[in-house]
Amino acid sequence: MVKVDILQRKPYQDLIRHTQDKKLNRVLGAFDITIMGLGIIIGTGIFVLTGIGAAKYAGPGLMVSFILAAVTCAFVCLTYSELATFLPVSGSSYTYAYASLGEYFGWWVGWSLILEYSVGASAVAGGWSAYFVGILHSCGIELPKALTAVPADGGIINLPAFAIVLLATLCLILGVREGARVNRALVVVKIVTIFAFLFFAGPHIDPLNWQPFLPYGWDGVVAGTAVLFFAYLGFDALSTAAEETKNPTHDMPVGIISALAICTVLYIAVCAAMTGVVPYEQLDTAAPASYVLEYIGMRAGSALIGTGALCGLSTVVLNMLFAQSRALYSMSRDGLIPNSLYKVHEKYRTPYRIQIIIGIIVSLVAGFTPIHIVAEACSAGTIFAFLCSCVGIIVLRKIYPRIPRGFCCPAVYVIAPLGFIFCAFIFAHLSIHTLELFVGWSVVGTVIYAIYGYKHSTLRHGEPESHE
Ligand code: ALA
Repeated sequence: MVKVDILQRKPYQDLIRHTQDKKLNRVLGAFDITIMGLGIIIGTGIFVLTGIGAAKYAGPGLMVSFILAAVTCAFVCLTYSELATFLPVSGSSYTYAYASLGEYFGWWVGWSLILEYSVGASAVAGGWSAYFVGILHSCGIELPKALTAVPADGGIINLPAFAIVLLATLCLILGVREGARVNRALVVVKIVTIFAFLFFAGPHIDPLNWQPFLPYGWDGVVAGTAVLFFAYLGFDALSTAAEETKNPTHDMPVGIISALAICTVLYIAVCAAMTGVVPYEQLDTAAPASYVLEYIGMRAGSALIGTGALCGLSTVVLNMLFAQSRALYSMSRDGLIPNSLYKVHEKYRTPYRIQIIIGIIVSLVAGFTPIHIVAEACSAGTIFAFLCSCVGIIVLRKIYPRIPRGFCCPAVYVIAPLGFIFCAFIFAHLSIHTLELFVGWSVVGTVIYAIYGYKHSTLRHGEPESHE
């Protein structure tokens, strides 16, 4: 009889072996982690989804949706802080699931991360395009709709979205991501842009626009949470910096929680300003911040905010495409996808093959798919990864009780179950369409695993030939 061992766990020593020859400098403090967090987290959620979320799901009550999403993320990020210091290897959620729940769950989470990173990058590119078109509009230049809208919205292709992904891919192949100073500067531009928006829009708030506060009821608030959960994505990628923090016990949780808290305050403030200035039904636009300023007659302010948003969204596209290549790297190293995909370019020392494949697929999705459908699918994949991490942390505590953790999640038997319950609650409120998409995606993933991953896994067949 054939033994099917799809729940075999990758042993701890195997997982961390790859890091043992790579001594990273412990230079990051809590402040650095916070800045990194703001760089990765703030993007489409605030600059794009706030408008759609208010118009279609929760009205002004979207402010409550932001709080609900933040509380959920706070539980999850405590578990990630521990997992990151326990398994400080690339791969994040994929690696945690492989070590705790076994190979099939590892694959399933890795496959779901494609929804988070690749589909997420497409969604961000869609938002980038909306702001790009808005800036041109402010300057009196109109691009034809055929070239700026996806077929579902009456166009042929969203060319700016398509192009920004290819441009970001080119940058990643040439290896220009590693600019800590550039990243920091762009974070400052993002934050200044948000404060400028609040400064311009604040005086025009009419509290009457907040009535009714919950036009779609509590169901709308929860549905809104499911959609804009996307606004908080990125902190899981942050956990991979654990190996480089000076004092992970203190800096990781303080850094991640501070980033989350700052984002939450900014999100709520922006949401309050948008829904306070413009009646929520009119916010169904992919560039709501620019729209709000145009609404109050500030064309120049609108162009300024648009430019800041473009800078902010560009870093998110880059980070997501990069994170995708790292996740696939870990999977190819474990033999679950062909190792040959991770060939490193001789001159640029970057994984150009996988990066090109990711770039082509993501640009096609960005160019031809409606943004809100894309963003929800992204949240589904991420929430699933979070669910597995909430279970995985408990399993790892049981099977490796004596291995020291840089940071131990406080009251883990309360925090992890709470994280699981909150995530499951939000997952259950994703639209039927999104859940169908997630199930379909998982079935396709399972078939690929059965045909390829199961047969080539290094757990059964040893290390693949290296292409690095
Ligand atoms: N949190 C990131 C954004 O909102 C993914 O764009």
